[in-house]
This record gives sequence, C-alpha cells and structure tokens, in this order.
Amino acid sequence: MAENVLLRHEDVPDIHKLDVYLAHDGYVAARKALTTLKPEEVTALVKESNLRGRGGAGFPAGVKWGFLPKDSDKPVYLCCNADESEPGTFKDRAIIEKNTHILLEGILITCYAINAHMAYIYIRGEFAYGAKCLERALAEAYDQGLFGKDIFGTGFDLEVYVHRGAGAYICGEETGLIQSIEGKRAYPRIKPPFPAVYGLFGCPTIVNNVETLACVSSIIKNGPDWFRSIGPESGPGPKIYGVSGHVEQPGMFELPMGMPLREVIYDYAGGIKDGKQLKAVMPAGSSFPVLTPDEIDVHMDFDSMRAIGAFLGTAGIIVMDEDTCMVRALEIIDRFYHHESCGQCSPCREGTGWLHKLLVRLEEGNGKAEDIDLIDRICTNMMGNTVCVLADAAAMPTQSYLTKFRAEFVAHVTAGGCPLKKAAAQPEAA
Ligand SMILES: Cc1cc2nc3c(=O)[nH]c(=O)nc-3n(C[C@H](O)[C@H](O)[C@H](O)COP(=O)(O)O)c2cc1C
Repeated sequence: MAENVLLRHEDVPDIHKLDVYLAHDGYVAARKALTTLKPEEVTALVKESNLRGRGGAGFPAGVKWGFLPKDSDKPVYLCCNADESEPGTFKDRAIIEKNTHILLEGILITCYAINAHMAYIYIRGEFAYGAKCLERALAEAYDQGLFGKDIFGTGFDLEVYVHRGAGAYICGEETGLIQSIEGKRAYPRIKPPFPAVYGLFGCPTIVNNVETLACVSSIIKNGPDWFRSIGPESGPGPKIYGVSGHVEQPGMFELPMGMPLREVIYDYAGGIKDGKQLKAVMPAGSSFPVLTPDEIDVHMDFDSMRAIGAFLGTAGIIVMDEDTCMVRALEIIDRFYHHESCGQCSPCREGTGWLHKLLVRLEEGNGKAEDIDLIDRICTNMMGNTVCVLADAAAMPTQSYLTKFRAEFVAHVTAGGCPLKKAAAQPEAA
C-alpha cells in the first residue's frame, strides 16, 4: 500500500481531533493551496490526478469543477454528499467519524478551487453521531480560523453548514439532495441543466461525495503523480472497500483502487464464513449487477468492472454463501427500492412495487412460469425512462439475478416455493 493513504488513518488514535490532525500535517495542503496556488491551479492538479468520484458514477472530480460557468455573477455552492444510503455501504461514515478533518480540509480546498464561499454537508438523518462529529470538528476548526473569515490571512471566506436529512435514499441523488436542502420534497430534477450550471437555489453548484473530497488534500500535499501511482491510471487513488454478508471478517479495508475482488473477500475479509462456498457477490452496493464466483478475479476499478458488465459503484461488497436463496435476496433488494422510490415517475413508482409483488409471489410458492419473463420485461421498461436512475438501480440487479440464477427462479415455480426452505424443513434421513 502506498504511503500516506490517509482516508481513515487508523494508525493514529484520535486523528478526528484537530490538535492530533494538525500534528500529522493537517491543513498543510489547505494552507499550500490557499497561499501559493491560484484556484484554477488547484483544479488543474485535481484534474491531473484523475480523481474519479467515489459516490457511484466515477465522474472525474476536476472535470466536474471545470463545468462551472466562468461568467456567472451568482454565488457558487459546494454540497458534500454524506447521505450514504446505498445498502452495504459504510465508507463515508468511517471518514466522517474517524478522520473528520480530512473531509473538512478537502471541503476547504475544493471551495477555494471553485470559488465557493458556502458549503453544505448533507448528512443522512440516521448518522446522528456523524453529524455530532462534524459539528464538533467544525467548531474546533472555526476557533482556529480555519473556516470563517480571512482564512490564512488570504482574504478567502468560507462558511460550512451541516444539514441533516430525514432518512430517504433519494436524498443521495444529487438533485434530490439539492431540493432537500432548499426545504422541498426531494424529487430529483431533470438533467440537463446539471447542478454545475443550475444547482442549489438556482446557482452553480458542485456535488461531491465524502470519499471524493477526502482525497483532495493528499493530492495537493503529495502531488497528482503520487495519487496516480496508486492503482490503475484510469481511476487511481486509495479506496475504502466495505465487505458485509457471509464472510469471516466483515469490515472496511483501505487499499489501492483496482484490487482483485477475490483478494478483498478472501485475504482481507477472511473468506466465506464457516468454510462454506461462495454463491454470489454484489460488488457495488445493491444498485448494480450481481457477480458469480467465476467472475471475482475482476479488478475493482471503474474500467475493469465495466469491461465485465459490472460497476464499481460504492465498492460496498455484499457476499452471499451457498445457502442463500437468490429469489429471497432479490425480493429484499426490490422491497428496498419500492420503499425508497420517491414516486415522481410512474415507471419507477409502479415498476418497483410490481417487481416486489412478483418476487414475493415466487418466494411464497404462488409464482407462475411466465412471471420470470414478466419481471425481465418490467425492468426493461423501467430503465432509462425516469428522471433519475433509481429505477435503473432496481432494474439492473434484478435482470442480472434473473440471467445468472435463472434456474433458481424456475425451481421456485416448479417446486411451488423456495426449494432451499423446503430442504431445510425436511427431517434428516435416518
Ligand atoms: C438514487 C440515488 C442515490 C444516490 N445516493 C448517493 C449517496 O448516498 N451518496 C453519494 O455520494 N452519491 C449518491 N448518489 C450519486 C449522486 O447523485 C452523485 O453522483 C454523487 O454525489 C456525485 O459525487 P462524486 O462525483 O464525488 O461521486 C446517488 C445517486 C442516485 C441515483
């Protein structure tokens, strides 16, 4: 692992406290940026580093910042996306709670680069402790003059607000998030216009994920070449992989981008629990296709994942062992999307509910053979037909389950319910 990869900084106790963070070169990068670099030079360094967004889509951060209009007289805003509602994903929480200032320093540098004097950290309602950590760290930093007026005597001013959500997945979608900060129902907006042009309060706005912003200070401190030396050129840098499900040691592992999925599961997360066989992996939270055991030699970076028809997403890796019923697993996933659909678009509102109903029917033994193709058709009709991609986030994994585990769906029809459940209910042969 490359030296200085600091997203969590586990080796330093109390790094979330300002004095400890300062003693470990904290805010050195911010001082360097504000006192020796022009805003456009900071953006250029981030562009050169090829830092790609860690919120799911992998869009290059520096390129996004470059989309801000040059001739606007409106204020520019930064929104830090700390909604982290993707199932199986808990990396941002770790940064917020354990290395709070690396995020705040990233926010300060980014605001300087994009000429924003106001930033919002939108944190999901359930992260009550995280919100406290942020408030506490901000208070310490304001006290030391790291935020507020005339930072480092440069004349640059910045105010940062922590805005707590009320617990809805859709508030993580960038335009839903913006609507929510504006005090409205978090109905995503049609894009274009993208937030960089028409965002918060109708002003140019950059929305970046917590982990993305947490990478910024190390790029400024160590240079873009250093950042690009960690993992693949096409999407480098440190990455927090979260592993949950049927593994011996679920947890978070900060490693270079591009780790083989097999290595993360077997070498870091201790392999499959109780010596069982691996059945399936969702490598990117729940919104993207499922992988089978023969696909886990893939490298966990944006382009390698795309090459096999998968996605890196949030790198929230959900592992399922041989005893998992894939129909039941999918039923749980689609229940989530049905519950979280904001209801604005009918293909999503109706489609997610319909998928869930059909999956319950299959799992309970009342499914028909034609239900399987019907599920597939509903997915096709949902994708690309809604304002945001929540519908796709439900349809993509659903279609992948049907394709890769079709026999199991068919078996639910022929056996009149879950064969695994029935087998478990049988008395042991004498
Ligand atoms: C339904 C939905 C939920 C999302 N939830 C989150 C989230 O919780 N956190 C996040 O950073 N991005 C989330 N995103 C992605 C954001 O819209 C956006 O792409 C991201 O915040 C951009 O940051 P990045 O460029 O740094 O990755 C979500 C997208 C969708 C469609």
